[in-house]
Amino acid sequence: MFDFDTPIDRHGSWCTQWDYVADRFGVADLLPFTISDMDFPIAPVIRSALQQRLDHGVFGYSRWQHEDFLGAITSWYQQRFALTVDRQQIVYSPSVIYMVARLLQLWSQPGDGVVVHTPAYDAFYQVISTNQRQLLASPLIKEGQQWRCDFSQLESLLARKDCKILLLCSPHNPTGKVWTQEELETLAACCERHQVKVISDEIHMDMMMGDEAHTPWQRVARGRWAVATSASKSFNIPALTGAYGFISDEQDRQAWFRAIKQADGLSSPAVMAVAAHIASYRAGAPWLDALRAYLKENLELIAQQLNHAFPQLDWQPPQATYLAWIDLRPLGLDTERLQQVLIEQQKVAIMPGETYGAAGNGFIRLNAGCPRIKLEEGLRRLIAGINTLMA
Ligand SMILES: Cc1ncc(COP(=O)(O)O)c(C=O)c1O
Repeated sequence: MFDFDTPIDRHGSWCTQWDYVADRFGVADLLPFTISDMDFPIAPVIRSALQQRLDHGVFGYSRWQHEDFLGAITSWYQQRFALTVDRQQIVYSPSVIYMVARLLQLWSQPGDGVVVHTPAYDAFYQVISTNQRQLLASPLIKEGQQWRCDFSQLESLLARKDCKILLLCSPHNPTGKVWTQEELETLAACCERHQVKVISDEIHMDMMMGDEAHTPWQRVARGRWAVATSASKSFNIPALTGAYGFISDEQDRQAWFRAIKQADGLSSPAVMAVAAHIASYRAGAPWLDALRAYLKENLELIAQQLNHAFPQLDWQPPQATYLAWIDLRPLGLDTERLQQVLIEQQKVAIMPGETYGAAGNGFIRLNAGCPRIKLEEGLRRLIAGINTLMA
């Protein structure tokens, strides 16, 4: 019903993934499997909503606190997560990381600690350190092909006097871990015990790849918390710049509105992003489900090809996200050298695990959000690159 197979040339569209690959990898014209956006065009329903708005032709200041936007969000949560959300708690943000950054500023002081599960999405490191907060790392532990949280180590961090915030990534980038409701309940109870506020980044919430279900933080929440999310990841519209979230406490919400509108002068949302969110959440589910099925097959292809070439990897698709977090440690490779071979000989850009912190050493992260033909080529090059080092 939807075509995910036909490649679209993104070159020359000011696109970070293809046009600016040299910024991260030092070399241009690599086949990129890097930052998390997808090579697919948007869903037809989003395209026609944007077209309609474009055809209107007037792009004056806009608003988001209306039934069209709030209703679309509440109905999405109802449909996808069987959750009735409190629409009073909804806030708009230009991006998920802007919301994280602003809440770090509102909820902590320079020098305070922010707990993060590692490995972690690279922007988490940047946003915490640039805001002069201290990242307190809680390493996820790999058991077989699963990732689990070391709750006693986590609690020792939350108990610190200087620890103010848990910045959760749910589902987790880069491991693809889906937090169970029980795990989240434990996290919520720990945070409440130590009066630590929670910011739950749920931008990957729609990208379930297995049988696990996403549990929105609202379902387990206690105390003061915020959820930051967007349709941008699932519907591939991050360059429209638009996100939203939930803030539990009325005073925290007032502080948020003062910060975003008055301190930072961001009153009007990006109207195309608002239109795209409404279209996605009202009518985008069939496209999203077809996309997830396609991505799941992409991830299965990675497993099949990698494990065929290197059975010791025993790699399995993630529970969530279209990001393949591949543990290469069983091969005992020099991963720095591998990157060199991939870039210089194979002309392919795949994220080195260290991007996600020291806990990512020995891993690579391959973005599988692309037509199969590109993925097949990328896998061929990855396998050839690894073979060069194994020879
Ligand atoms: C966990 C996570 N949060 C946030 C973002 C970025 O969101 P935004 O562009 O809305 O700041 C990403 C993008 O890859 C992500 O993986």
